[in-house]
Amino acid sequence: MQCDKPQGVWGTGPPVQKTLPLVDPQLANSSRPKLNVALNQNNIHLNFLDDAERHQFLETVAERADAVSITGDIGDATNVIGFLKEIEDILRKPVYFVLGNHDFYRGSIGKVRDEVAQLARQSEFLVYMTATSVVPLSPTTALVGHDGWADARLGDFEKSQVFLNDYVTIEELRKWKDEFALDKPALAELLNVLGDEAARHLERALRQAVTDHSTVIALTHVPPFKEAAWHEGKHSDDDHLPHFACKAVGDVFTTVMQEHPQSRLTVLCGHTHGGGEVQVLPNLRVLTGEAEYGQPMTQHVFEID
Ligand SMILES: [Fe+2]
Repeated sequence: MQCDKPQGVWGTGPPVQKTLPLVDPQLANSSRPKLNVALNQNNIHLNFLDDAERHQFLETVAERADAVSITGDIGDATNVIGFLKEIEDILRKPVYFVLGNHDFYRGSIGKVRDEVAQLARQSEFLVYMTATSVVPLSPTTALVGHDGWADARLGDFEKSQVFLNDYVTIEELRKWKDEFALDKPALAELLNVLGDEAARHLERALRQAVTDHSTVIALTHVPPFKEAAWHEGKHSDDDHLPHFACKAVGDVFTTVMQEHPQSRLTVLCGHTHGGGEVQVLPNLRVLTGEAEYGQPMTQHVFEID
């Protein structure tokens, strides 16, 4: 779909080049490169934990890795900044993250993205991938990412009876004909724009990443393929897919990786709370993290040379 809104309409502006490499370049060039471990967390919903539970969870994570990635749904608009500061204070190591739809609840997408991008710019350890292009984790592995958004293009949005709290609690998504009926065409157009914005960012970053790296890891909140939108062990149905998958991002990943068969892309995502893995192409796989409210967990552990 043609997008007539400029890049950055949601507030983050053009990507800034903040890179926080996981491997010290001097070590990487030595004969004994350091082996690092990165953990992935998704849908951690820290607002469902009390202070003690939250600290305990973060301290456990801190002990286990040299770096951490988070694929969104950290809190909501009223507390995500505080949680990110707390994550940084406790972990004291690189935290590569994107935001999920819940992070904008009780607020605005543009405003939250702006505030989080500003926090990350000033932070020693936080890297907001939506406001960053490529992070070289090592000489062979790079990281890209964007919040993403379910873009209403997979499944049947028009007939879908699924209603997300997004359409009430996120400022930009309150598209109602009247107090009882959603304006679905207007909402679909907006969801398309959000998906397209994520796809543009990820295409640019991924094309850059594969020129110098054989392995790329992409962080995004929303599964980019219907086969990756797992829920209770199955793929989401046509009612749920419009709200739980992003076709625009999936199309970009497929196109770029078909053009670069020598590179490998691993996509880490969440959103559906159902876990699963799908090999979309020989060089493109998607890991969707399982999640449960009040029980944050580490989804995957990666060793990076
Ligand atoms: Fe989500």
